[in-house]
Amino acid sequence: MSRFAWVGLLLLLVVPAAPVQAQDYVDLRRVTPISGDPVRGESRSELCAACHGPAGISVVPIYPDIAGQRADYMYWQLVKFKAGETVMAAIVADLTDEDMRDLAVYYAGLPAAGPAADPAAEPTEADPPADPAVLARGEQLYLHGDPTAGIPPCQACHGEDARGHPKATEVDAAGYTPYAVYPSLRGQREAYLVSRIGEYQQGKHATLTSGLVMSGAAQHLDQASVQALATWLSSLPR
Ligand code: HEC
Ligand code: HEC
Repeated sequence: MSRFAWVGLLLLLVVPAAPVQAQDYVDLRRVTPISGDPVRGESRSELCAACHGPAGISVVPIYPDIAGQRADYMYWQLVKFKAGETVMAAIVADLTDEDMRDLAVYYAGLPAAGPAADPAAEPTEADPPADPAVLARGEQLYLHGDPTAGIPPCQACHGEDARGHPKATEVDAAGYTPYAVYPSLRGQREAYLVSRIGEYQQGKHATLTSGLVMSGAAQHLDQASVQALATWLSSLPR
């Protein structure tokens, strides 16, 4: 056992247990599709443009693009941010539930790229072309995983076209749409993808059941695989 594990064990013995929460995560297996007013969403979106760009195409590669992302996924991310994770927590603090639905629906309806995208968001330096071998490895992992390394095919949950779960809009027998909250990955920023996958590997985003699902999927990815996946996904035209 490592020294850190021993310290952890000692802390367990010494520190009194926190009061048990009824539920310390949100169960997204039982959700129904969200609806919202995109016009109202647009009127609230000024606050978001500073980082995500005026058209949902982020101004910095480490911030995610949100134009064309799935509405249900975004809504639940905003709900999660309310609970106090990351830089977004302060941003969403004053938003009502209605605001969050409206914003999610508004950004989901924006073109993922194209003439509306902010030209200022384009990288200023020309990106070196990606290594074809890295792209091929990323595509291979995305479509087929690597069974010997315990890596699942990403397409099973994010779709063959990487636009979200193939059953995103399907209502299950109990009336829920559990797959609506699975995000699109297509054309997302490379730097953001690398950092986000790393966060799942560290067990972050665990306050939603969807985050727990993704942490499991990311568990056996090594750094080269994460990079290859991010390079390939970000290279896809929207
Ligand atoms: C100060 C910069 C900043 C501002 C302003 C901002 N965001 Fe964000 N946003 C981020 C960063 C950084 C992330 C990356 C995720 C994180 O914080 O965990 C993010 C993540 C998100 C995500 C999750 C995207 C994904 O792919 O997982 C959504 C949705 C989002 N923001 C919506 C909004 C909305 C709507 C607003 C305006 C109300 C807004 N953001 C304002 C920086 C910002
Ligand atoms: C078993 C289903 C499943 C598999 C397999 C899976 N994912 Fe995910 N993934 C999810 C879910 C669910 C989420 C939403 C998590 C959340 O709410 O934080 C997610 C979120 C993500 C995100 C965050 C997107 C964003 O906009 O912030 C990335 C990146 C990602 N997955 C990459 C991958 C890659 C790469 C693979 C293949 C190695 C993969 N996923 C395989 C279910 C899966």
